[in-house]
Amino acid sequence: MPVLELDDVHRTHGTGDTAVHALQGVTLTIEPGELVAVMGPSGSGKSTLLNLAGALDRPTAGRVVIEGQEVTALRPDALARLRRRSVGFVFQDFNLISSLTAAENVALPLELDGARPRAARRQAHAALEEVGTRDLADRFPDQMSGGQQQRVAICRALVGERRLVLADEPTGALDSVTGEAILQVLRRRCDQGAAGLLVTHEARHAAWADRVVFLRDGVVVDTTGPAATPESLLETSGA
Ligand SMILES: Nc1ncnc2c1ncn2[C@@H]1O[C@H](COP(=O)(O)OP(=O)(O)OP(=O)(O)O)[C@@H](O)[C@H]1O
Ligand SMILES: [Mg+2]
Repeated sequence: MPVLELDDVHRTHGTGDTAVHALQGVTLTIEPGELVAVMGPSGSGKSTLLNLAGALDRPTAGRVVIEGQEVTALRPDALARLRRRSVGFVFQDFNLISSLTAAENVALPLELDGARPRAARRQAHAALEEVGTRDLADRFPDQMSGGQQQRVAICRALVGERRLVLADEPTGALDSVTGEAILQVLRRRCDQGAAGLLVTHEARHAAWADRVVFLRDGVVVDTTGPAATPESLLETSGA
């Protein structure tokens, strides 16, 4: 069963003369183990696509199915549970909670989902260990570098058994070494059976993906297969 299915998805923001057709019929399926990159110019609909894929937003038309559950058919409580249990988000600006330590930030989604604080804490420490940031567990966000914060944000997105990981330019503000480290974590999680969707401007980062989907004006204009190299991506994207 695919982890994510988008079937002829449309999303229009606003109505009438000011309506923006951000997505105009996008179809995309991601199986367990696959990492898919999304590239395209600013305003082409990449973030809109990611928000729909994570059930943070609803399509104007078409179907979004996460782990076999059609998002539009779910009641609000079931939708919130699906989002908490199945979907991990990594945002460009980290979105860590400043009053919580790294470990508390990572443990939060588990606790929201009913895990006991001690068990949540243990899992959070294990997740931090996995990305080499175990020693940051007790630091607050403003005591960490951007790269360290982003690694903690990745942990928070991956903790628990989340099967769908969505990342919107997670390496945006990072130096290239830290950026690669973040992608490595994402790649490894997909190799372990998760499905990943990664928005990126950089062909070098898209090269970590199994497939690259190019968006333009809300439409998929091209898809490259697994054999893509950074050079061929640059050619396809016209960069
Ligand atoms: N809430 C909103 N209300 C109105 N228009 C919106 C809204 N969100 C996005 N849009 C419009 O939808 C289109 C797609 O936006 P989106 O944010 O998905 O682009 P993007 O590809 O992520 O761009 P970027 O690379 O700059 O992040 C744009 O024209 C944008 O202005
Ligand atoms: Mg965007």
